[in-house]
Amino acid sequence: MTTNLRVAVVGAGRMGADHITRLHSRIHGAEVAAVVDVDLARAQAAIEGMEGAVALDSADEAFALGDINAVLIATPGFLHEEILYQALERDLPILCEKPLTPDATSAWKIVEAEQRLGHKRIQVGFMRRYDAEYARLGQWIQGGELGELLMLHCAHRNPDTPPGFTNEMLITDSVVHEFDVIRFLTGEEITSVQVRLGKATRHAPQGQHDPQHVLIETTSGVLADVEIYGNARFGYEVSTVASFEDGIVSIGADSGPYLRRAGRWGGQITPSFVERFGPAYDVEVQAWVDAAQRGEVGGPTAWDGYATAACCEAGLEAQKSGNKVKVQLNAKPNLYN
Ligand SMILES: NC(=O)c1ccc[n+]([C@@H]2O[C@H](COP(=O)([O-])OP(=O)(O)OC[C@H]3O[C@@H](n4cnc5c(N)ncnc54)[C@H](O)[C@@H]3O)[C@@H](O)[C@H]2O)c1
Repeated sequence: MTTNLRVAVVGAGRMGADHITRLHSRIHGAEVAAVVDVDLARAQAAIEGMEGAVALDSADEAFALGDINAVLIATPGFLHEEILYQALERDLPILCEKPLTPDATSAWKIVEAEQRLGHKRIQVGFMRRYDAEYARLGQWIQGGELGELLMLHCAHRNPDTPPGFTNEMLITDSVVHEFDVIRFLTGEEITSVQVRLGKATRHAPQGQHDPQHVLIETTSGVLADVEIYGNARFGYEVSTVASFEDGIVSIGADSGPYLRRAGRWGGQITPSFVERFGPAYDVEVQAWVDAAQRGEVGGPTAWDGYATAACCEAGLEAQKSGNKVKVQLNAKPNLYN
């Protein structure tokens, strides 16, 4: 394909609006053709100044346009499923924000639908795979120059959580990123999840036990621990310390520039995921567009969406019981090998 990919973006909230701006201003080979949001005013605001783009309030209307050739899904996770089926039916390349779907059963049905199609059409929005520091850590792990990877210590801290963000969403919306990136870094599946609830902050909304300590084990016995802290107040931080046989690697912690001024020194902490992972989202979306132009889909697959949904299910059970819960996975279909 030599003409621009005409993308329908479904959901123009925090993530959708960011992707719309990205597609319009920084991504080559694609244009925003339609923005769909049940809040039509929000869709209209998102396309302001974008010649040729239309604002709609239902995905059906976007598909009915007939000249849409890719779909970016950025509605809340529990609404992804229906749009995924509609896009798969039309054999369109899809970039679906994480989570693929909220539970393993519905995610597996999507995997089955894609298999019936016979080729991959879905990329899941696990953007950490496109972050330069995570990619470098992945190379150290796969390259073996530091010996075997033994442990990962991960911190995932948000300044606060949006209204309606539940205790369960600390796992299904937040730790789902660690589930994916740990699988990506190690090249292994996660075998068990345990969640420990200790002393909690006063600053979390009612019903949320925050922070939580999540313990993860992979096939070869790599142990990872995640501090998920939704209401840490100071800023947004996603960092990892990796312990190898022959060295320690830290990523995502403070980075420059450092300023010395008026008797003080220091730098800035990113306020949200939008700034922290901005460059990674750009690389992710560009990779999706480039692959779609070649008639392909790369990056995290529907299988990754399913496997992480299975980890989330184990995580939710572990959150309730405090037990170490085994992750149950169906056999991996050939399409994803
Ligand atoms: N990759 C990341 O780092 C990252 C970060 C944040 C959010 N996300 C994901 O992005 C998705 C959206 O999250 P968000 O924070 O932008 O949520 P949001 O609530 O800010 O936005 C969701 C938007 O979807 C719209 N919407 C609801 N139902 C709809 C429907 N049936 N059709 C069309 N539009 C509809 C809402 O009106 C809203 O504008 C979620 O899956 C979330 O997990 C990913």
